[in-house]
Parts: sequence; structure tokens; C-alpha cells
Amino acid sequence: MEQTAAQRIAIYPGSFDPLTNGHVDIILRGARLFDRIIVAILANPEKTPLLTPAERVEIARDVFRGTPNVDVDTFADVLLVDYARHRGALVIVRGLRAVSDFEYETQMALMNRHLSPELETVFMVSSAANAYLSSRLVKEVFALGGPVAGLVPPAVERRMQERHAQKVGP
Ligand code: PNS
Repeated sequence: MEQTAAQRIAIYPGSFDPLTNGHVDIILRGARLFDRIIVAILANPEKTPLLTPAERVEIARDVFRGTPNVDVDTFADVLLVDYARHRGALVIVRGLRAVSDFEYETQMALMNRHLSPELETVFMVSSAANAYLSSRLVKEVFALGGPVAGLVPPAVERRMQERHAQKVGP
């Protein structure tokens, strides 16, 4: 998609390890509000992820193939506000599930505003159906043999099952 000065570009940052249906819902709703929404996957080398950054990018690109104003990218070793400036974004989008998210999210929003006052954080309240979903819980449920269908996109579920099969072996 070509960028023009008038475009309203939003960044939706996160670890997305893995992408859940809660993330997908926020991204699709964000894609209706902004001209372009960039899913910015934090490739943090300190964490031991379930999925590599490259896998997370591949999955997200696959999930949003039919939504042309969703871009997928990674960022690492840089402040989010600097990455957002580099991408020409005016807005950081974050999802809010429960009141418990509020403290961490406002702390980050205020720090980001301190670092870059022109960048606005917009909170989008999750859909009620996804309010209990988190990547951490999805991983825990899966690791203990529980079903993750309906919690994550099918592409994520497939990748998690492949990963499990590789661990268990033939
Ligand atoms: O999905 P997550 O893991 O809660 O996302 C956290 C994320 C990626 C938004 C946050 O860790 C971040 O912005 N990291 C980039 C480094 C940075 O700018 N840190 C200061 C932000 S207050």
C-alpha cells in the first residue's frame, strides 16, 4: 500500500508469541479505524519464545493476507517510539482486557508519551468473548495438553502442533 502524508498510520506492538484471536480482533477493528495498522512484533532476543520472530511474521502475514491495510514487521533493540517515528505512525494501539491490564498499560503509555509527546496511545477494549485470552495462558493450556482451537487462528494452532510433534518425535 502506498503511503501519503495524509495517512493515519497506527502501530500495534507486542510479542505475539503466539498471535491469539484477541489480537486478531483488535487488529481487524484497528484496520477499520486507521488507514494502515502495522503489527510490530517485538523480536526480543532475551526471551525464549515458543515461535521464532520469523515464524510469528509468517503466521501474521498469512492471517492478514486478505486485509491490505495491515502490515506486519518486527522490531528489536530500539524504543517503540523511535520505531513508530521511523514508520511514520501517529498512534500506538494497545488492547485492554480487564482492569488488571490498566496499570501496566497506562505506565507504558505515559512513558511513551514522556519519550515522544506527539505519539498518542489509543486503548481498544477487547471483545467480551476474548477478554480472558492471553498468549501466556494459550501456551500453558497447550503445554498441558489442552485444546487451543478457537483461541488462536488455525495457522497458529497448526504451527504449535508441528512444534509439539517435533518435540515428541515419531
Ligand atoms: O505484548 P507485550 O509483550 O505486552 O508487548 C510489550 C511491548 C512490545 C509493547 C513493549 O515491551 C515495548 O514497547 N517494547 C519495546 C521497547 C520500549 O520501547 N520500551 C519502553 C516502552 S514503555
